[in-house]
This record gives sequence, structure tokens and C-alpha cells, in this order.
Amino acid sequence: MTKEKQQWGSRVGLILAMAGNAVGLGNFLRFPVQAVNNGGGAFIIPYLFCFLAMGIPLLWIEWSMGRFGGKHGNHSTPFILNTMSKRAMWKYIGVFGIFTNIGVAAYYCYIESWTLSYVFHSVARTFDGMSQSQVAQFFADYVDIGKSTMGIPYEAVVFYVICLALNTFILSRGLKGVEKVAKIGMPLLIIFGIVLAIRGLTLGTSGASIEVPNASAIDGLNFLWTPQFDSLANPKVWLAAAGQVFFTLSVGMGTIQCYASYLSSKDDVALNGVTSGFTNEFVEVVLGSSIVIPIAAGYLGLDWVKENAGFGMAFQTMPFLFEKWGAVLAVVAGVMWFGLLFFAGITSSLAMGTPWMGFMHDEFGWGRNKGALSFGLIILVLGLPTVFFFNQGVFDEYDYWAGTVSLVVFAMLETILFVWIFGMNKGWREINLGADLKLPVIYKYVMMVLTPVMLIAVFLASMFTPKDNDWKRAFSGDWVLDNSSIIKQITNAGLKEKLAAATDPVLISELQEKIMYINGARILLVGLFVAISVLVYIAHRNHQKQKHNL
Ligand code: ALA
Repeated sequence: MTKEKQQWGSRVGLILAMAGNAVGLGNFLRFPVQAVNNGGGAFIIPYLFCFLAMGIPLLWIEWSMGRFGGKHGNHSTPFILNTMSKRAMWKYIGVFGIFTNIGVAAYYCYIESWTLSYVFHSVARTFDGMSQSQVAQFFADYVDIGKSTMGIPYEAVVFYVICLALNTFILSRGLKGVEKVAKIGMPLLIIFGIVLAIRGLTLGTSGASIEVPNASAIDGLNFLWTPQFDSLANPKVWLAAAGQVFFTLSVGMGTIQCYASYLSSKDDVALNGVTSGFTNEFVEVVLGSSIVIPIAAGYLGLDWVKENAGFGMAFQTMPFLFEKWGAVLAVVAGVMWFGLLFFAGITSSLAMGTPWMGFMHDEFGWGRNKGALSFGLIILVLGLPTVFFFNQGVFDEYDYWAGTVSLVVFAMLETILFVWIFGMNKGWREINLGADLKLPVIYKYVMMVLTPVMLIAVFLASMFTPKDNDWKRAFSGDWVLDNSSIIKQITNAGLKEKLAAATDPVLISELQEKIMYINGARILLVGLFVAISVLVYIAHRNHQKQKHNL
């Protein structure tokens, strides 16, 4: 079977696609919540440090790994890693780079489908005249599949399927389709973001209402932007900052390697890598922090924001606040806000489809249509449990294992491979090959020592987080694990403790049910990992047979 060779149409298209991959729901929904929950200004310094010491090096590592793999005809991480070290285990570690994308896409496309539905409801003026609690209830009904919001039965499922169909269709157009969506979606997203951010930055105290007389958007901005240096000594804030950097840049996922594998062998990766990284940071730090928090603080007060920070804020509160701008502007703002979220989401979810398609194409000769359709179907099967059992914790479980833990594990392992096994001298040459940017040599040493050490520290700290984040007590010899540590999460320790303490039969059965759903979600994720590993094994056997026949 002749294989179709794909490549990027233009440098602008590539950068927009890479930036679109990074810029996502994480920038607008996850970042503000992480910032609020970790002390506002206290979060920003660790966050920026993690960006410079781990984010940027990982971008260069992944871009150059991808281009290197592409030269050898590999477009997904199992065999990209295999070209960098011949040890068998690396191709199985590379499974993370497909697994994570499928696991994340399964719940990510669900949020993406909310944005699509909310664009529809903004245009249909569903939220007209609703009180804050009614808007919040609308969202609660939407995700509670048994209920119906506007008489559309199974509305959440309908929009989820539409969203998957859109992703599948675009993916079936190959890189050209992805590039086209990025070229339209990214500029629109930035324009919409700037308009809403201007509103957030200029709202001041004009939104103060009778209920919250001293509400002020400026309080929200000050909270985020007044640095607090004491957080530097708090590992919890560092872990949250590192997690946000991974998620927002899409590092440790396998998408960047896949996109970069379609570069020509001497295309620049140094300048392209930082450009897409800084574009993401502009959107996250400048736009992401200037919309939800100041607007919500401007109407409802900073205390409300701190108490209610959660990622539902974007859906449960914003439509109500937009109503305060009058009927026409409410529609415009709703379309802009949910439209920008949709573009942010789809440019990222498309990226999540490409490693699977690249793998099946390289190893089994699957064409674009077959690759895209199979991706859509896999996401449908794995994603429907997040839709139907959203309130039972399936969604959060996917987010934790695929969207949080896997990123750290894979980022750490691939960095160790790149800097210590493939070797930093070779790696540095790879990064600098065809570079349009002279990299500061200090980064060679940062990548060789600081980045892997920080990644290992983040991994170990997440694995063995001590109780109440009391690191002093832990280091003085009394190391009791916190229920948020990976080890305790594996055993469902927190839920089991609650169950043991519960006396109310309703609560007991709820907790039992939750544990059952969580374990079910894990079985699906483990099954996915095993299934991809089996495919890698079959592909490896095929390679061996081919070699033997030559
Ligand atoms: N990087 C993507 C986001 O921020 C996954 O949403």
C-alpha cells in the first residue's frame, strides 16, 4: 500500500496549528480557577518559573523529537521514542503519547460540546431574564442527563455527537483541514478574547449592584496580579503551577511530537517552538486572566469568586452577567465567549486525534478517513460514560489520570530519554539544526539538569504528597500520605474514609456508587492503554518480519 505523505502548507499555518493545539479550554477555564485556588498572585511566580524552566525546554525537546522521528517516517511517540533508543521499553513508554490524547479527548470533547450548545443558547436567548440561580440550574440540568433543558431530549448527548462528528470530519481532511481551522479559529479567538478582556479590564466598579455594593473588577485583577513571595515555599502551589503549565502547553501529551513530525528535516524548531509557547502564554496570562475573574468580581465581588471558583463558573455565571449588558450585547458577548471557547477547544481536540491517525497510518496503512472515523468512534465509546455519568465522577477520573498524572509521567520519561540517554549534545544539535533563533547556551544546562530534576521532583511530590501538605512534618520523619497523593488516589482512600464515617444510608449508597463508577472508568483507561500497547507490539513484530524478509 502506498502511504500518503502529509506536510504543513505554510509556516504560519504550522504555528497557528501548534498554538491552537496549546491554546485551549485550559487557558480560559482551568488557568483562572488554578490561580484563584492557589492564592492569586501567589500562583503567578511559580507558574512563570515552571513555564521557563520546564515548559520551554519541553517544547524544544518535543518539537525536535517529533521532527527527528518524522525523518525516520514515524509520526507518533511509540516509534519516535524507538528511533531515539533501541531499548524495547521505550516504544511502550511511547504508548502514553497516544493514550493520553484519547483519554483526554474523551472528556475534553464533552466540554467542547457544552460551548457549542451555549453558543446556540446565547443566540436563542435562552438565558434572557433568568436569575443567577436559574442559569446555574440550567447547567446542572444540562449535565444531569435524565433532565431536559429546553425540551431537547438528551441535549448533552446530541451536542456531544455533533461535536465529535465535526472533529471527525475535519480530521478526515488531514493536516490541511487542521491548518484551515487554525487559520480561521485562532484569529477569531484572539479578537473575541481581546474584546471581552477590554470589558473585564474596564468594568471597574460600574458593575456594583445593590446585592454586592462594593463589587469591583479591580479587586479581581489585584488579587491575581499582586505577587506574594511566601508561596515560593509552598509545594502545593508549585505542583498546581507545574500541572497547569503541562496542560496548557500540551506538553507530555504526544501531540507536539506528532505535529512536528510533519516538518521537513531542516525546518526550524527553536523559534517556532517558543513562538507557539509564547502565543499560548499571551492568551492564557493576558486574556485568560482578564475575562472571567474581573467580570465576575465586578458584579458579584471577589469573595464570591473565591468561594465559587470552579470551572463551571464560565457556564453557570457568565451568561447571567452578560444579560446585564442588555439584550443585544448579551447575545454578542455570549457568542464571543462560548465561540472563543469552542475554537480554543476544537483546535486542541483536533491535535489529540492526530497521534492515533499517524500511528495507524504508519504502522497499518490506514488512510485519513479510516483513521479519523476510528478516532471518532473510540472517543464516542470512551466519552459517553463521561456524559452519562458526569455527576458520578467519571469525567474527573479521566481528567485526573489522563489529563494530569499521565502528562507528568510522560514528560519526565521523555526528558530523561532525550537529555540523558539520547544525550544532551546530540539533543542540542537536533534543536539547533536549521534554527532561526540563537538559543542561549544556558538552556543546554537547564535542560540537562534543572528540567529533569524538576520533573522528577514534581512526579515524586505528586506520588507521595504528605498529609495536609505539611512538608516540614514529613521531612522530620512523620510522613503520612495525603489522600490527594497518587498512591492514595489509587486505593480510593479518601472516598473509603468518607464511606467508613458515613451513617446516612443515602450517602452510603452514593459513595458506594461513586467508587463503582470510578473503578469502571479506570478499567476503561487501563484497557485503552493495554489495547494500544498490543497494537505497538503487533507493529513491532511487523517491522521485524519486514527486516527478516529483506
Ligand atoms: N493545551 C490544551 C488546553 O489548554 C489541552 O486546553
